[in-house]
Amino acid sequence: MQHDVQAVILAAGKSTRFGTGQSKQLVELCGMPMMVHALELLHSLSIDTTAVLGYQADEIEQSFKEYKAGKKVTVVHQAEQKGTGDAVRCSEPAWHADHILILNGDMPLLTQEVISSLIYRHKTGNYALTFATMQLDNPTGYGRVFADKTGSLLICEEKECTPEQRSIKTVNAGVYLVRRDFLAQSLQTLLESDVTGEVYITDIIADAGNRGKKVGTYEVVADLVRGVNTLAELAAAEHILYERIRRRWLAHGVRLVDPSSILIDRGVRIGRGSMIERGAQLRGTTTLGKRVRVEPYAIVTNTTIADEGHIKSHSVLQDSVVGCGVQVGPFAHLRGKATLEDGAVIGNFVEIKNSTIGSKAKAKHLSYIGDATVGERANIGAGSITCNYDGQRKHHTRIGARAMIGANSSLVAPLSVGAQAYIAAGSVITRDVPGGALGVGRTRQENKEQWVAARRVLGEEQGR
Ligand code: UD1
Ligand code: MG
Repeated sequence: MQHDVQAVILAAGKSTRFGTGQSKQLVELCGMPMMVHALELLHSLSIDTTAVLGYQADEIEQSFKEYKAGKKVTVVHQAEQKGTGDAVRCSEPAWHADHILILNGDMPLLTQEVISSLIYRHKTGNYALTFATMQLDNPTGYGRVFADKTGSLLICEEKECTPEQRSIKTVNAGVYLVRRDFLAQSLQTLLESDVTGEVYITDIIADAGNRGKKVGTYEVVADLVRGVNTLAELAAAEHILYERIRRRWLAHGVRLVDPSSILIDRGVRIGRGSMIERGAQLRGTTTLGKRVRVEPYAIVTNTTIADEGHIKSHSVLQDSVVGCGVQVGPFAHLRGKATLEDGAVIGNFVEIKNSTIGSKAKAKHLSYIGDATVGERANIGAGSITCNYDGQRKHHTRIGARAMIGANSSLVAPLSVGAQAYIAAGSVITRDVPGGALGVGRTRQENKEQWVAARRVLGEEQGR
């Protein structure tokens, strides 16, 4: 537990460079809002965290409170977005630790090592202030880091740099660890920029030099601390995060076929021996057991798949639960808490919504099963559907164990088909069928003998 370090995340800005009108804190990278990546990291290091919110504060707070790490965050407000220095000022009432770790809220690539090393350097170097830097071939947009004539370090924001200073490639990453007593004093001295009217937190570096305080720097690889100011930078950061996630699963016994084409969100769990194939996506809180196979272009979101499940290509699974050894697809659609019990088989062009399919039951071709309970080993024939909606309300269909629903039947809910009952193919069933019975709901077939020849004779007589 880092009792003497607490974090302040700056996330009140308007995200103007995003150009979407939305705060960048509301976008997700790898299935997790931007700031939650940093919140999870700080939580894993037991660092108490305060978020400074302003623009779209309520929506942002709501989005991160859904996560364990987000629930513990203290929120302070910056009423007007007057710059990063002003944002840190707003956090002062929440300070309690000796060292304040200030983070920009747009750094989803940060890792534990960066924070731990920064803390270690800061403490062992006995610095008043330690901040992370990086080297960029194209430093556009970042604050440049250099020493003034007296040898004191400073950060100059791009808009205030001379052309010569702009060519400096050492830039400020946006992570600072500052002794609380020095920070409190220094914040009082910060002035608005002549160029933008904003107060910059970066000006505390020059202030530390002026006061003769020791300043430490820590150079970090750019891909760990890049900021996200534009949609292009968002795409680049997400690309790096997805690559990290893939490498982790490859190192944990999960085979990825054509890894770079596969997207696995940060909240996903996968058991050893599983195989994920080209173009598949595992989203949200999806959890896969051991030896699960997910074929090309399947999209699985917030769904649990038990051991040895087999999801065939182009299937879409959402908010569902799939038991051991279940087969799904190709081209199947599960949604709305579909539950498939062990050994069930769901084939192509089958949609299942808010239904439970019993163990070893089958629906292998072209079906819609909505708001239904299907017993174990029941068989739903090709093209059969539940008619669950009467235009106003949804109704339930119950199909007993080992029942056989003939092809192309319509089961009009509310309806109960008993165990081991049969439904004749092509039936429209509107009344309950008892267990063991045959339900037939169609007109009888009639064959008209010699009908074709009779028609021809009639045609000739009429001159046709
Ligand atoms: C900032 C740094 C720059 C550094 C870069 C690294 C300043 C002045 N500049 O620039 O030196 O190289 O990060 O990525 O700090 N925010 C508020 N309130 C405000 C303004 C901003 O909370 O009034 C928040 C934003 O929501 C954002 C963070 O502070 O999460 C940083 O602001 P941003 O506009 O991204 O700063 P940069 O221009 O990237
Ligand atoms: Mg930024």
